[in-house]
Amino acid sequence: MLRSLRSLCPMARSARCDVRRVAAVFVGSDETIVLRNQLFLEMFRWPLLQIGGANIADADRAWSQELKPGSHYRWNMSRLSTVSVETELNKTEINGVMRLVNEAEAVDHIRALNEAAVLRLRRPHPTTQHILVSENGDLMGYAQLESGTEWSAGQLVVSPNHRRQGVGTQLLRRLITEAGSPLRVWAMGDSPAGRALATGVGMIRQRELLIMERGLGDDLPDPIIPPGVQIRTFLPGQDEPEWLRVNAAAFANHPEQALIDLDDLKDRMAEPWFNPAGFFVAMKDGIMIGFHWTKQHQDQLGEVYVLGIAPTAAQHGLGKALLLTGLRWLQQRGNSRVKLYVESDHQAAIELYLTYGFATASRDVMYAQG
Ligand SMILES: CC(C)(COP(=O)(O)OP(=O)(O)OC[C@H]1O[C@@H](n2cnc3c(N)ncnc32)[C@H](O)[C@@H]1OP(=O)(O)O)[C@@H](O)C(=O)NCCC(=O)NCCS
Repeated sequence: MLRSLRSLCPMARSARCDVRRVAAVFVGSDETIVLRNQLFLEMFRWPLLQIGGANIADADRAWSQELKPGSHYRWNMSRLSTVSVETELNKTEINGVMRLVNEAEAVDHIRALNEAAVLRLRRPHPTTQHILVSENGDLMGYAQLESGTEWSAGQLVVSPNHRRQGVGTQLLRRLITEAGSPLRVWAMGDSPAGRALATGVGMIRQRELLIMERGLGDDLPDPIIPPGVQIRTFLPGQDEPEWLRVNAAAFANHPEQALIDLDDLKDRMAEPWFNPAGFFVAMKDGIMIGFHWTKQHQDQLGEVYVLGIAPTAAQHGLGKALLLTGLRWLQQRGNSRVKLYVESDHQAAIELYLTYGFATASRDVMYAQG
């Protein structure tokens, strides 16, 4: 009796596995299908499938191909890419992803993964999953999924050597499948490729992050510190709980910043760029009421990394005072430019930055499932 591979193994298409070790599929004489190593091959639109010695280029056709009991069927591994979904990456995988991200950045002039995603490569987290697409051990694309209850966030990047082969679509579809809630994806720099990919699967533009910049060649005024407030630098080992409290209050409506916990803070403090001398906190009556954390990049570029004011201390000039304190620090360190990220609908913050000479240089766009 002839049976199709799909009818013999109906769950196969949705099963999750690492296909790298799969060599062959057999249809045994008892008509049971044997997947060696209990693993399953996931089909894409382009890999060739060899059935009974003939190459079949179309995956859908291959799946409905009739199989003869007792015959051996073999996938042509030379053209088969693999997808793996992992909760933790090993060192080799982390290095491979970082190499891919750097290669893509050299071509795109923008980093496809944000800082939080890069940090999550190294430290496993219960809400983080990694999706890797490879061919013969060569990493073609990578996506990271951050699952949430109301929505999930994804970031993805395809190697410049493997673009326009469907890998981006593959990763995006997989993100959608794996996410337990509606997916949102970041397209850094609002690139035409990211836009086309996201809208191609029906996602809509949902949120924008402005990247604003200014030079640091001019004279910056002295900050005017509100009465009763002292500005000092962050004390590692002492200020963490207070900072987490003020950060959560200041960014209560921010989908990512509000969720920063002690481990996330420690991850950032362990980064080579971290310098408490550029991390300013404002204190009143022994209580932290605001902060300006600056970040040093290469090539004389500084960043207003996070500027936050406790809601109870807002609108007393503390934001301006902390902004200027940090900008002057970055200027004294020899930086020629400074950048920052701000939500495009955060009018109050944008007004502050415009007043102090910042202008929009580019934008990141978040696309959401409609
Ligand atoms: C965006 C990106 C992931 C696309 O990956 P990819 O593997 O090349 O995408 P696909 O081959 O699946 O392309 C799917 C469709 O997207 C569109 N697309 C992809 N690249 C495009 C480009 N440079 N210009 C215009 N449209 C493009 C096309 O409609 C394409 O279909 P087609 O090839 O049949 O015309 C890749 O360019 C990339 O890694 N960019 C940097 C990171 C990034 O922007 N990530 C955010 C994604 S939302």
